Amino acid sequence: MEKVFESERINFVRVTEELLYDYMQMVNDLECVARFIRRNAERYTIAEEREFIQSVIEDNPPFFSMIERNSGEFIGNIELRDIKDNAAELGIAITAKKQNCGYGKESVSRIITYGFDTLGLNKVMLRVYRDNPRAISVYEKCGFTVCSSSDDDIMMEITKRSLIQRTENTAPAVLVPPRQAAL
Ligand SMILES: CC(C)(COP(=O)(O)OP(=O)(O)OC[C@H]1O[C@@H](n2cnc3c(N)ncnc32)[C@H](O)[C@@H]1OP(=O)(O)O)[C@@H](O)C(=O)NCCC(=O)NCCS
Repeated sequence: MEKVFESERINFVRVTEELLYDYMQMVNDLECVARFIRRNAERYTIAEEREFIQSVIEDNPPFFSMIERNSGEFIGNIELRDIKDNAAELGIAITAKKQNCGYGKESVSRIITYGFDTLGLNKVMLRVYRDNPRAISVYEKCGFTVCSSSDDDIMMEITKRSLIQRTENTAPAVLVPPRQAAL
């Protein structure tokens, strides 16, 4: 698997056919995953998923699979899509077994800095269903704020500038070492 970057506990690798069955299990998990990322509850066939993966491999967008560094196990997928005018939309899905382990916060924070520092983005946006409080909580903890909403969903965004301000405001005060006693 081709690693592109990493965070403390996650390797971000290029999408690969090696993970086809992990992808299938995740995207067709209606209870824990699918209902939060699409409203139509149809299952993907293996042929459809393979075709999708092939198109991602060919186009090579910033779409990554996440692998747990200490076990090599699949965590989920994360992407920055529809890049236009230095802005992109974030998408994320974590497989049921790896949810609620802090990987959402870790990976969202990491891909934002990848987007800003490596891809030269100025803004990352996302759309989340109202009935997904866990995801909303993760996005807020990563610095996203609500920019608009409808009956069904909420749009959130983070800008490079707001992330820098947030980092400055939360940076620990620089500790001044005590003066050395005069000899
Ligand atoms: C949403 C998702 C990305 C979050 O990632 P995760 O690794 O499960 O989440 P984390 O463990 O990093 O953090 C979850 C946080 O939400 C909080 N949380 C959980 N359930 C919650 C709820 N019902 N209301 C509010 N907060 C909730 C947790 O307390 C935790 O915060 P804490 O660590 O400060 O206590 C992941 O669960 C997922 O992919 N879900 C299915 C698909 C999906 O929803 N994708 C997003 C579509 S917009």
